[in-house]
Amino acid sequence: MSTTDADLFAGRVVEFDADEQFRRRWSPRAMSGKALSLHELQRIFEAARWAPSCFNSQPWRFIYAINGSPHWSALLGLLMDMNQAWAQHAGALVAVVSRKTFEHNGQPAPTHSFDAGSAWMSMALQAQHMGLVSHAMWGFHQEQAPEVLGLSEDYAVQAMVAIGYPGNKAELPEKYQEREMPSPRKPLAEIVFEGKLG
Ligand SMILES: Cc1cc2nc3c(=O)[nH]c(=O)nc-3n(C[C@H](O)[C@H](O)[C@H](O)COP(=O)(O)O)c2cc1C
Repeated sequence: MSTTDADLFAGRVVEFDADEQFRRRWSPRAMSGKALSLHELQRIFEAARWAPSCFNSQPWRFIYAINGSPHWSALLGLLMDMNQAWAQHAGALVAVVSRKTFEHNGQPAPTHSFDAGSAWMSMALQAQHMGLVSHAMWGFHQEQAPEVLGLSEDYAVQAMVAIGYPGNKAELPEKYQEREMPSPRKPLAEIVFEGKLG
């Protein structure tokens, strides 16, 4: 029996009416291996750069490699084996990097991670809007990243992101096949409070 779109999202029950793009975004691992075009990636980065940031400092930086390009093996090689197993079929990999200090005065920028997180979500939603899938990863070799990505100490890697065309679940390594579905969420009552946490 084939899984319908409604079956796929059945575990994601809404409590209130919000735009469907939020409930429908998820992080598949099955990707087809087709390379993204530079233009497709530019549309995704265009969405990301309009994110809000403290003092409009725009601390995010995006370092990409398109599948099959000269930089592909270096970025893919940064990923832990468990992520390489499926992310090798992404159309592109993006390192989401943030600048830890303000450019105007060199002082620590306390919200650089928060700001870069906003930009990543814009990327994910733009990718979805284009019929693509995206999947963030913390499972990469942190100690190798600065050299491979050409980063000074002013920068931190927030996550690596795989973006690609949807693929076939049956072609994933077996242990990932059963996890290949949108995950549920905590109820609002557990995460929203009036006035005080409690
Ligand atoms: C910062 C970050 C790091 C993550 N690291 C990994 C990872 O290394 N490997 C992986 O398979 N998924 C990773 N994920 C995906 C999460 O497990 C996934 O987003 C979460 O389970 C919620 O599922 P959803 O994105 O499908 O809604 C990461 C997600 C985020 C936001």
